Amino acid sequence: MDKKALEALVRDMTTEEKVMQLVQIPGSEYEADAEITGIDRGQVKDSVKRLAGSTLGIWGSKRLRKIQEQYMKEHPHHIPLMFMLDVIHGHKTVLPCPLGQGAAFDPEAVKKGAEMQAREAAADGVHATFSPMADLCRDARWGRIMESTGEDKLLNSRMASAMVAGYQGEDLKDPEHIAACVKHFAAYGAAEGGRDYNNTELSEHTLREHYLRAYGEAIRKNPVMVMTSFNSINGIPATGNLFLMKKILREELGFTGVLISDWGAVGEMINHGYAEDQRDAALKAMMAGVDIDMCSGCYSGHLEALVNDGAVSMEMMDAAVLRVLNMKNDLGLFEDPYRGLDAESGPVITEENRCLAREAVAASLVLLENKENTLPLRKEKNAFIGPFADTKRLQSAWAFSGEDENTVSVWEAASEVYAPENRKVAAGCTMLDQDAVTARGICHIDRWQEENDKLLAEALRTAEWADTVVLCLGEDSTQSGEATSKASLQLPAVQMNLLREIHKTGKRIVTLIFTGRPLELKEVRELSDALMICWLPGTEGGHGVLDVLSGIVAPSGRLPVSFPYTVGQEPLHYDMYPTGRPKPVNGPFEYTSRYLDCENGALYPFGYGLSYTDFAYIDPRLSTQTMSIAETITASVTVRNTGDRKGDVTVQLYLRDVAGSRVRPVRELIDFQKITLDPGEEKEVRFAINEDMLRFWTAEEKWESEAGKFQVWICNSSCDGQALEFQLVK
Ligand code: BGC
Repeated sequence: MDKKALEALVRDMTTEEKVMQLVQIPGSEYEADAEITGIDRGQVKDSVKRLAGSTLGIWGSKRLRKIQEQYMKEHPHHIPLMFMLDVIHGHKTVLPCPLGQGAAFDPEAVKKGAEMQAREAAADGVHATFSPMADLCRDARWGRIMESTGEDKLLNSRMASAMVAGYQGEDLKDPEHIAACVKHFAAYGAAEGGRDYNNTELSEHTLREHYLRAYGEAIRKNPVMVMTSFNSINGIPATGNLFLMKKILREELGFTGVLISDWGAVGEMINHGYAEDQRDAALKAMMAGVDIDMCSGCYSGHLEALVNDGAVSMEMMDAAVLRVLNMKNDLGLFEDPYRGLDAESGPVITEENRCLAREAVAASLVLLENKENTLPLRKEKNAFIGPFADTKRLQSAWAFSGEDENTVSVWEAASEVYAPENRKVAAGCTMLDQDAVTARGICHIDRWQEENDKLLAEALRTAEWADTVVLCLGEDSTQSGEATSKASLQLPAVQMNLLREIHKTGKRIVTLIFTGRPLELKEVRELSDALMICWLPGTEGGHGVLDVLSGIVAPSGRLPVSFPYTVGQEPLHYDMYPTGRPKPVNGPFEYTSRYLDCENGALYPFGYGLSYTDFAYIDPRLSTQTMSIAETITASVTVRNTGDRKGDVTVQLYLRDVAGSRVRPVRELIDFQKITLDPGEEKEVRFAINEDMLRFWTAEEKWESEAGKFQVWICNSSCDGQALEFQLVK
């Protein structure tokens, strides 16, 4: 349909029809047995169901076809219904959770992964996904850190941009692509105390320089949608925030697509104390430019009256409706309302997709310790012990369209690699402590103590038999994601007990940690010979992990987020602002900015990760020591593989503006490159630094660079390397 025809269609619609294009209702309302992310069914009136412009949380071509046929018959203008779904790290073939994908430092692979997700979801009738989540996360207590690619704005920017490009492709009409939604705008990750849905207080310069960056970069890739966040920011809920939505999103970032609220967020402005009632909430969201009200009922209940009373102008209403109809048009729904709804059954998991997922898992694993080359595992007696040793629950709670039964467990993969006489398995303990609280409530296990005594005894027998114990520990998938904030970052006590008991046997221990968030691993480090973070690896989790354990693939993942010594350090991130009393390297420490009982920095910092080979960074250098505004200078280093096997390495470039009109972070990642080197091979890695990369939100509230001294590190993690220096002259 062309623009004129769309405008004519809007003119022909009644006010009620228009309002309903801006209403999204749960898919469960259309189908009794559909799965959905919460909320009771049967709350939506039939008149709303008949006209609502979009729905979410259901998939499957046969099921959706039935709904669309009925809907099209009843809709007065035969405008198709839009189906949206949270395809976060996989639809059928589930990739590592986003935090794991961040660890691979490989935007191209993330793009390929998003393309795969789009293909599978589109073949199941899905039109749009609520991804990428571009929230900057500096607080491991916040469970949704799992859905992000970490604590760094540059890494997040590249990953979120790659996801938008992968989901949407060149043309949304292409039946293998779906619409993307950049969320949650804005600063949802800065929730105070790491408690989900909590308020955020951020200075404008921290907001602009850090928190807005990844959304902004992803929005430059033209996502069809942006989602508002639940939190208030500096006293105003994001969903009614004119500064965020009008000034920043629409004016500065130039976003012209559909702005959708998060689930119920329009109505939640009443709880925030920002709107008096539903009508007021609908008005405030409309004024902020929210086009679609996801499931709060405020638009369906009150928007028509607001228009009739003149509180919301018809012009404003029409503009919002047109944005939604444009989206449907771009997806080709007017030509084919049944796009992706032909197949009798949904997409199947192909070998090709499994391969892609397997590679993604292997690339996401971060090796933190490898004392005396414990890894790769030798072909001797290996015992796989722990609650993650033989579980198929390796995907996050957000991968609800992927089925556990398709997942390969660690033990299943180990059985393909090691002969029966060289492998044994034991659960060792329950996943959770007694009566642990998860996102789904209290998880009570009958006869928990008895069960654990039995499991431990069996595990100890298995460990006695083994030469090496691969101890598979971690956080259950219901303990990260939405509404899973934690005030402790310890592994469950029952799992720590298992580790201590196995340690007493004196056997070599390789500890694998399956997790959606950073955990406190100080004691785990002390008791383990090797330690590797496996995240929530998804469908091919077992295979990817075994590829690295067995040595087929050398680990290359880097931490996308700092792992603390203790929860008391949170929020913890490498790119801090300096203080007037920095802690000196060698003391005296009195009256400096420090903890009495803990290091300042991370146990394992951002960017850190080991390989099975070693890399030397030879002669890091800058092409010049002075730079003018128009110039580009080159930072380069020769990287040599000094070990005896092939490996990948992520070379990182950090910068510090030594003095500015506002304080600047102690280091910021400004570029990275992942390269592969054969044993003995060396490559020159070159980075271009231009003036654009030196800009920040100055004291004059301008996005500019300032003349002066800069430091640069070309290195292996956020905590190492030698500083080089140059001057920016203006
Ligand atoms: C989450 C969003 C999600 C939406 C729809 C909300 O609770 O915050 O991230 O996209 O539900 O499922």
